[in-house]
Amino acid sequence: MPKNSRFFVPLFAVVLLVCGCSGANRPFLSQQAPPDPAGYRNSDLLLGAQLYDNWLKIKRVSRSSANPLYPRATANARNTHRCYKCHGWDYRGRQWKKPGAGKTRRVPGLTESTDRPADEIFLAIARGPEGHAFGEVLSEGEIWALTRFIREGIPATKKMVSSKGQFRGNPQSGRAGFAARCVICHGADGNGIDFSRRKPGVQGLSYLAKHKPEQTLHRTRWGMAGKSSPSAPFTRGMFKIMPAAAGSLGLSGAEIADILAYAATLPE
Ligand code: HEC
Ligand code: HEC
Repeated sequence: MPKNSRFFVPLFAVVLLVCGCSGANRPFLSQQAPPDPAGYRNSDLLLGAQLYDNWLKIKRVSRSSANPLYPRATANARNTHRCYKCHGWDYRGRQWKKPGAGKTRRVPGLTESTDRPADEIFLAIARGPEGHAFGEVLSEGEIWALTRFIREGIPATKKMVSSKGQFRGNPQSGRAGFAARCVICHGADGNGIDFSRRKPGVQGLSYLAKHKPEQTLHRTRWGMAGKSSPSAPFTRGMFKIMPAAAGSLGLSGAEIADILAYAATLPE
């Protein structure tokens, strides 16, 4: 036996490991095996919620043409591939009248799917008509994560925000949580970070909590795609990371509803 064969074996193991890792990130529809049900239990709920917000950002891909299932002309083609764009921040789906053609198109609400078996939801995401065969781009683990988000992340939403967009929380109780958890980055008035982008006027947390309550709830609970790392400690990358309240901050649904009810009382 050559002297250096003992180096050869560990090297071989390392190569196998590396190949294994990249294999796990392969689009689901390119793999031969059916989805492994154990993948559901091991899946990452937070990742699922962030993929729902913006899977293109997480996967670092772009789309130049609009999703054929999206019934409206829009300037931002890339956005028409994001789950929330069709299924909504309130997860209740949408109804569209196609301009010209009198036909109404309905996107089903995912709130109606939360009790369905996991493998059924998995396949509804992975396989589908053009524009909805997400297994062509998402890996098995990512599709399980989305499935888990639909089954376990969506149901609790009803307890936090009403169908009219009112937070079901107590602003008085939320004041302390807001001070402890949000003020350091968003400021005491919630306007420390301006979300208005190119539009005039400051749009801070108060503006968002009042005008886009469901989006605000989603991103407070789960963080922001590409801007949150569930395992990142609170202080690392300060001002660049949006910590997920239901993740690294460890807040309960009731605490989150209280904090956002308080945010909605701040001046815009
Ligand atoms: C362009 C619009 C659009 C986008 C983007 C979109 N969907 Fe859908 N989705 C639909 C439509 C339309 C249906 C119904 C399809 C059908 O009836 O065959 C549907 C069906 C579903 C269903 C089955 C629900 C049911 O009641 O049958 C699930 C689950 C689902 N989508 C999840 C997702 C996820 C997760 C994403 C993001 C990765 C996503 N969708 C992105 C439009 C969209
Ligand atoms: C460590 C800093 C930090 C803390 C703490 C923090 N945030 Fe954020 N938050 C951010 C950053 C950074 C962004 C993303 C800004 C951007 O879009 O570039 C953000 C974005 C958000 C958004 C998304 C806005 C949108 O575009 O839709 C919401 C909602 C939000 N934060 C709410 C909260 C709430 C509520 C708390 C307290 C529970 C909180 N944040 C705590 C840094 C923080």
